[in-house]
Amino acid sequence: MPAHLLGPHVVGKRIVIRRLVPGETGPTGGPAFTDILGVCTSWADGTAVIERESGEQVSVPVAEIVSGKPVPPRPNVRLRIGVREAELLSAAIFPGTTSEALGEWVLFDHEVSVRRRPNSALAIGDPGIGLDAAIDAIETFYRSRHKRPRAKIEVGSAAEEALVARDWVEDVTVEFQLAGLAATRRILPPPVEDARVETVAGTDGAQVLITLGDTARIMGTMERDWLAIHDLEVAESHRRQGLATKALATLLEWGAERGARAAWLHVETTNDPGLALYESLGFTEHHRCRYFSSPTP
Ligand SMILES: CC(C)(COP(=O)(O)OP(=O)(O)OC[C@H]1O[C@@H](n2cnc3c(N)ncnc32)[C@H](O)[C@@H]1OP(=O)(O)O)[C@@H](O)C(=O)NCCC(=O)NCCS
Repeated sequence: MPAHLLGPHVVGKRIVIRRLVPGETGPTGGPAFTDILGVCTSWADGTAVIERESGEQVSVPVAEIVSGKPVPPRPNVRLRIGVREAELLSAAIFPGTTSEALGEWVLFDHEVSVRRRPNSALAIGDPGIGLDAAIDAIETFYRSRHKRPRAKIEVGSAAEEALVARDWVEDVTVEFQLAGLAATRRILPPPVEDARVETVAGTDGAQVLITLGDTARIMGTMERDWLAIHDLEVAESHRRQGLATKALATLLEWGAERGARAAWLHVETTNDPGLALYESLGFTEHHRCRYFSSPTP
C-alpha cells in the first residue's frame, strides 16, 4: 500500500510527488529522492506522467513514488497583485509625474498632462491619519497647485464613503483588467508587419506608440513584467474591421519581446465596445476604481 493517496483519479490535477532515484545515494548515504511538480497527464500501466510547467513530460514508475499529494492550481495571474500595487503600475504611463506619499495614499501631479490619472490622489490603502484629515490633505495639495482636487478610490471602500459624505462629485468608474500575455497572444492574430513602432523618447525604451496607417493607434508601457495597454483608438470610420485587434497583437508582441508576462489596462465601465473587445481577448476584471472631484472646482 503506497504512503500516498495518488492514483488514476489525479489525472488532470496539479500534483507534487517525491520519487526515489534508483541507483543514487542521498547526502546522508540513504536512498536519493527528487520532487516533481506539475500536472498529471496519465496514470496507467504502472507509470505516471507529469507535465512540468516548462512543458517537459516526466514519466515515473508508480513503484518509485514514495509520497505525493494534489496541490492547488498555479495561482491565477489575477492573484499575483493587490489592488494598490496594480494601480501604482499606472504611474509609469505618464513620464514626468511627480508624487507625494500620504501614508499608503499617493498624491500624483503632472505639470503638463491634464489627464485624470496623473492628476489625482490614489486613495487606496491606509493614509496613516483619519480619512477626513487625509481628504483635507488632498484638498491642500491640489489647491496649492491651482488644480481641482481629485481622488481615485476602490469602489465600495471606506475612502469612497468618506468622500461621498463630504459631497465629493462622482466621476467615471474604471475597471482594471488583466490577462496573461501568453494566453491572450494565442487568441490574437499575428502582429502587423508594416505597423509603425516608435519608442517614446525619454522613457528608456519602456514606452511605445504603434500606429497602423492613420486609422489606429495604441500605446504600451513596460513596468517590470507588466505591459500596460493605453491610448487605443481606431478612427470611427474604420471600426469593426479588426484594427484594434491587430494593433493589440502588435503591441503584445512588442511586450513579449521585452519580457512581459501579463498585460493590463483601464477601461471605463460605460465603454461597451472596449469591454467587448477586451472580453473577446480573455481579459478579466481585477477590481474597479472610481474618480471623485471636490465639490467646488
Ligand atoms: C474600442 C475600439 C478601440 C475597438 O476598435 P475596433 O477596431 O472597432 O475593434 P475590432 O474591430 O478589433 O473588434 C474586435 C472585437 O471586439 C468587439 N467589439 C469591438 N467593438 C464593438 C462594438 N462596438 N460593439 C460590440 N462589440 C465590439 C467585438 O467582439 C469585435 O469582434 P467582431 O467585430 O468580430 O464582432 C474602438 O471602438 C474605439 O476606438 N473606441 C474609442 C476609443 C476607446 O474606447 N478606446 C479603448 C479605451 S480602453
